[in-house]
Amino acid sequence: MAKLDGAKVLVIGGASGVGFAVAAAALGAGAQVVVGSSQAGRIEAAARALGGGAVGRTVDVKDEASVAAFFEAAGAFDHLVFTAGDWGHMFGPTRELDVEASKARMEVRFWGAARAAKYASREIAKDGSITLTGGMLAHRPMPGAPLTTASAHTTEGLAMGLARDLAPVRVNAVCLGLILSEQVQGMGEGAIKGFTANLPLPRGGTVEEAAEAYLYLMRNTYVTGQVIRVDGGGSLV
Ligand SMILES: NC(=O)c1ccc[n+]([C@@H]2O[C@H](COP(=O)([O-])OP(=O)(O)OC[C@H]3O[C@@H](n4cnc5c(N)ncnc54)[C@H](OP(=O)(O)O)[C@@H]3O)[C@@H](O)[C@H]2O)c1
Repeated sequence: MAKLDGAKVLVIGGASGVGFAVAAAALGAGAQVVVGSSQAGRIEAAARALGGGAVGRTVDVKDEASVAAFFEAAGAFDHLVFTAGDWGHMFGPTRELDVEASKARMEVRFWGAARAAKYASREIAKDGSITLTGGMLAHRPMPGAPLTTASAHTTEGLAMGLARDLAPVRVNAVCLGLILSEQVQGMGEGAIKGFTANLPLPRGGTVEEAAEAYLYLMRNTYVTGQVIRVDGGGSLV
C-alpha cells in the first residue's frame, strides 16, 4: 500500500462537495494538497478552509490551455483526483433531444477529464494514480435520461482505457450514488428521500464516505481499471 504521507495530491473539483472531502482526507493522511476549480473566489476559500498548507489554483477544465497551465504550475505529483462536474441537465424526452446542448454537457465531466488525463500523464509519478468520478445513472437508467446514462458510462470507459494506456500509472473511477454534497442538499429533503428511501442503506451518503473510496484507490498499489461504487447498495435494487 502506498503511503499518502508526503505524497502530492491534486484534486480538480476540490472547491466543494466530494472533492473538498477528498482533499481534507488526503491532508489528514499527511499529503500535500493542491485543489483546483474554475472560480477563483471559491477555490481560494476552499484552500483557506482546508488549511494544512493546501494550495488553491484556478483551472477551467473546459479550456485546454487552462488545464495545461494548471499541471505546469503543479509540476511533478503523485495522485490526481477528478471530481469536477457541472450540473446542467441532460434530461428530457428523446424525441425532443437537443443534440448540441447535450454535446456541451460533456465538456466538464468527460472532455474535462480527458484533458486532465492528457496533461497529468506528463507530470505524474510512475507509481501514481488518477481517479475519475462517475454516477449511478450509468447502471440504473431512468426514463427521460438516456444521455445522462450514456455520459456516466463514458467516465468509466475512460478510466478503463487510460488504465491500459498510462500503465503503470493506475487509473480508476468512483461511481457515486446520491452523496449529500452542498449541491445535492439543495435538492431538499423530499427529493433526497425520493431517491434514497428504497436503498438497502436508505439515506444519502456523506461526502466523507465517498472520500474513503478515493483514498483507497490512491493507496492500493495493485488496483487499476476498476470502478468502485459508493451507492448505499443502490446497484442491488
Ligand atoms: N453528489 C452526488 O450525489 C453525485 C452523484 C453522482 C455523480 N456525481 C458527480 O460527482 C462529482 C462531484 O459531485 P459533488 O456533489 O461534489 O459536486 P460539486 O460540489 O458541485 O463539485 C463539483 C466541483 O467541480 C468544480 N467545477 C465545475 N466546473 C468546473 C470546470 N469547468 N473546471 C474546473 N472545475 C469545475 C466546481 O467548482 P467551481 O464552481 O469553482 O468550478 C466544484 O468544486 C460531479 O462530477 C458530479 O456530477 C455526484
